[in-house]
Amino acid sequence: MELKIFKNPEEIGEACGKLYADYINSNPRCVLGLATGATPLPTYKCLSRMCGEGKVSFKDVSTFNLDEYCDIPKTHKNSFYTFMCENLFSKTDINMDNVDFLDGNADPQEESERYAKAILDKGGIDIQLLGIGRNGHIAFNEPADSFSDEAYKVKLTDSTIEANSIYFDDIPMPRYAVTMGIGSIMRAKKIILIATGKSKAGAVLDMTEGPVTPRCPASILQQHSDAVIFLDEDAASLLR
Ligand code: GLP
Repeated sequence: MELKIFKNPEEIGEACGKLYADYINSNPRCVLGLATGATPLPTYKCLSRMCGEGKVSFKDVSTFNLDEYCDIPKTHKNSFYTFMCENLFSKTDINMDNVDFLDGNADPQEESERYAKAILDKGGIDIQLLGIGRNGHIAFNEPADSFSDEAYKVKLTDSTIEANSIYFDDIPMPRYAVTMGIGSIMRAKKIILIATGKSKAGAVLDMTEGPVTPRCPASILQQHSDAVIFLDEDAASLLR
């Protein structure tokens, strides 16, 4: 697990965006695992700008996202699909036929099997981008008694529901989501996790210096052969 520490989220966005651009230019048909939330936004902003400047092309890139809400239309304004379209896909030359998402309205077991096969058919994920929750969750893998494997349907925690309810002014906030499991995430060839802000410092400490335990799902990354952690000074502030 390699740690890279930067002054602020914007510096991380530029560094991480350029890392992705270099990788895509060397591997135009690469397969990217993508994340939502506030943390990846500076990276997506950098990649969108570089694509607009002709410095990188997504035309042969394939993508798989980590998670999606259940019981809302795929194109609802608060779906993770819409988040990705608005914050990255619409600002690049990606072929939307190469964009895959977990379907929160499909049968969970069938969808999990479909997703796992789709990822395998593409040769696996080359680089998986992750954020981290304050409690050390990755994707929607919350603290648990064991590490999950393939994608599955998960009941959202009260804190997640509370944090996101404000955005659902037209329909009830979903209570469930579908998420890639820890096993599917760990099978990525490379993992990049970004954490910024003081609110993530405790999770970062547990992830990097604590035991490997499903009580802190992100701690599993200690066992990945190529995991790079991008931190700003606030998120790294508790590291010894
Ligand atoms: C959500 C998402 C995760 C994300 C995390 C942190 O639970 N399911 O994928 O990493 O929250 O979000 P943020 O980056 O907005 O802090």
